[in-house]
Amino acid sequence: MVTIDEMAAFCKRKGIIFPSSEIYGGLAGFFDYGPLGSEIKKNLKDAWWKYHVHDREDVVGIDGSIILHPKVWEASGHLANFDDIMVECMKCKERYRADQVVEELLNIHAAGLKPEDLTKLIKENHIRCLKCKGEFSDAKPFNMMFQTFIGPLQTQEARAFLRPETAQNIFVDFKSIVETARLKLPFGIAQMGRSFRNEIAPRNFLFRCREFEQMEIEYFIHPSKLDDCPYLKDVLNHKLFVFSAEMQTKKQPHQELSIKECLDKRIITTAWHAYWLAMEHQWFVSLGADATKFRIRQHVSDEKSHYALDTWDLEYEFPFGWKELQGMANRTDYDLKQHMKHSGKDLSLFDEDTKQKVIPHVVAEPSQGVDRAFLVFLFNAYHEDKQRGNVVLKLHQRLAPFKIGVFPLLSNRDELLTKAREVFQVLRQDFPALYDKSGSIGRRYARMDEMGTPYSVTIDFDSLKHNDVTVRDRDSTKQVRVKLAELKDTLRKLLGRELPFHKAGTPYEPSAKE
Ligand code: GAP
Repeated sequence: MVTIDEMAAFCKRKGIIFPSSEIYGGLAGFFDYGPLGSEIKKNLKDAWWKYHVHDREDVVGIDGSIILHPKVWEASGHLANFDDIMVECMKCKERYRADQVVEELLNIHAAGLKPEDLTKLIKENHIRCLKCKGEFSDAKPFNMMFQTFIGPLQTQEARAFLRPETAQNIFVDFKSIVETARLKLPFGIAQMGRSFRNEIAPRNFLFRCREFEQMEIEYFIHPSKLDDCPYLKDVLNHKLFVFSAEMQTKKQPHQELSIKECLDKRIITTAWHAYWLAMEHQWFVSLGADATKFRIRQHVSDEKSHYALDTWDLEYEFPFGWKELQGMANRTDYDLKQHMKHSGKDLSLFDEDTKQKVIPHVVAEPSQGVDRAFLVFLFNAYHEDKQRGNVVLKLHQRLAPFKIGVFPLLSNRDELLTKAREVFQVLRQDFPALYDKSGSIGRRYARMDEMGTPYSVTIDFDSLKHNDVTVRDRDSTKQVRVKLAELKDTLRKLLGRELPFHKAGTPYEPSAKE
């Protein structure tokens, strides 16, 4: 598998992602999506919204502000608790995340350890600065909230924060959303948008940034119906790798289990949690990701966030190890109750079925980063094809930035150029398409491979005689001839995976010159 640094270099070369403000030396933890990357990201977010909001009757979406009332963060606990543990080199002043240093050098799981435990491990194992071998300070908490000021005065009263998670807009808008969308339990509220965390050590390209996007759902359930999930039967036979807290403590490997087995053996204790874990795994697989590269891992007891009763992460096997893609916490009624206490407003609702006034629970919170999902799909798609001599980005059709490339076979023949432009103008009405006449046809196919364009349409001399074109499949390089009159329909079926490529037209072998 390609390394994370090689992936970052590929992304920069192809205009997928650039380091932000690069002409000024870049800014650690900030990235800009380029022409191709912004298209892929948009497709990814649209696919998430369709699966989680439009395809469901029980989920609605919102789009909230990035800066919220400062009291929100007091109530949510982020101001007091949203910390990473930091150590500083006493010689060169370099700062590190203490758990990461310990994990890397001692090869143990250190997330969630207290500052005093990390200090002890560092001292006992004589761990020193990775840069200058200087001695480390004691480990201490560092709050990751980004601070700003509202209005012209930079006073304590004007202090505000950029949100570190999108979830809080959902909790503070809860009453208005429920009333205006006439929601009945159980229901979910979804949001995607920017979040900011002043990470001590941003690293691994898009994996840990200071500015990133999240796609989150808070799913609300009646407090006495935590196990009453009407959709559970749809996922009972779904299998995935499971790494429970017990397996981790006993140093056992993860196991492949069905959702039914997880619930029967009480590995996952609530039906809703199990349901959403399976749904999230299925979402990645539905967009072409390899199912066996994922596992669900339960947080061990001292790893959980301040608000969580039980948390499972959906993890992916990146080249730098198994890492969190989604955190799915059982937040109980913690957030709604905290906001009731701090705002003095009643956020309970009347449940028509039970005729009870209740504060709903969030048993599962499918919460993921757009940028981490983006990385998963890139790693999954990236293939170095030795025979072709170029990279092939085998992105799922729905994620590909452009669906069709259109070319004249030769770029110096007016009759081919005119016809190719005609075909391009027709196709681009229905598909994101790209016209390219520069370089040899082989070079143009290679460019499409590297951009992930699923199909390339070429207009050759036979096209002028027979009103047809060649269509090339990115993944197999096979070609077929398709009549112009049938082209749009054929491409639509191919992109919708309704037609296997070999049935899309008459098989065509390009001449050696092509
Ligand atoms: N509302 C719950 C919440 O925010 P989290 O586990 O802290 O939970 C959710 O974050 C997801 O957001 C993570 O699983 C990850 O995909 C993404 N994320 C968190 N911090 C990130 C960072 N610094 N850079 C990129 N993505 C991040």
